[in-house]
Amino acid sequence: MPAEGINLMSTADNFWKYFHEIFGEIPRQGPGTRESTERALKRIPLLNRENRILDIGSGTGAQTFDLAGSTDAYIIAIDNHPPYIDKLVKRSKELGFDKQITAQVGDMADLKFPDGSFDVVWSEGAIFIIGFAQGLSSWRRLLKPGGHMVISEYCWFKENPPKELVELHFDGCPEAGTVAARKKDIDAQGYKLVDEFVLPAAGWWENFYVPLGNVLERFRKKYAGNAEALEVASRCQLEIDLCRKHADFFGYVFFVLKS
Ligand SMILES: C[S@@+](CC[C@H](N)C(=O)[O-])C[C@H]1O[C@@H](n2cnc3c(N)ncnc32)[C@H](O)[C@@H]1O
Repeated sequence: MPAEGINLMSTADNFWKYFHEIFGEIPRQGPGTRESTERALKRIPLLNRENRILDIGSGTGAQTFDLAGSTDAYIIAIDNHPPYIDKLVKRSKELGFDKQITAQVGDMADLKFPDGSFDVVWSEGAIFIIGFAQGLSSWRRLLKPGGHMVISEYCWFKENPPKELVELHFDGCPEAGTVAARKKDIDAQGYKLVDEFVLPAAGWWENFYVPLGNVLERFRKKYAGNAEALEVASRCQLEIDLCRKHADFFGYVFFVLKS
């Protein structure tokens, strides 16, 4: 999922309208698995009802519900796209999590909580929007002393990634995305790296690109003849195709950090 503001589809005025229509129909808006969320959660001290988690860039809540199912902690989910938050609230009621989860529209670059409000700041597949180092730095004040931050982030695994992938994901700036560069940022911001692990392939394919491909098929039929909408579908399809072609070069890494 590209960051808003990145110049990917400058010709399509309604890019974000169509984009959110597509991504709002899939169960999660970024790669991930329940097992990975639980694995990261096990690396931090057991949380109880007194503890609070902030889930930043929650989307429609895939990982929020996985967290709610695996801990008693109270969770606040934040996303800047109101229809995603509406979906999260509706689903939360259906699942019986409405007392444990509060969902709010908010901007990850301007979070209104007082310092030290949370035991854990969690963000799957969303920190790239604000920038990895910037997120680590600006979200830190939200943690209680000794609190944890769990981030999953797109990383390069090999040198010299293909140009077409760099353009798609990094606006031509590949060096920022290596695991070594991420660890440098973690170190520079003064966090202790508790654990790191790679998201399994199922998190990309079964849970994300397969449902996305299915939605795109329906979307193309619905908008046949609408060049703007079809251009957005092509952009999403390009992401699937390039990720399949270059699957060895990249992945999502979970970083479990202690402040
Ligand atoms: C790649 S999706 C990841 C969503 C979810 N964490 C997941 O893994 O399914 C990134 C999310 O960040 C949200 N987002 C984009 N800009 C944001 C901002 N400035 N503040 C808060 N959320 C934002 C998007 O609406 C989207 O739901």
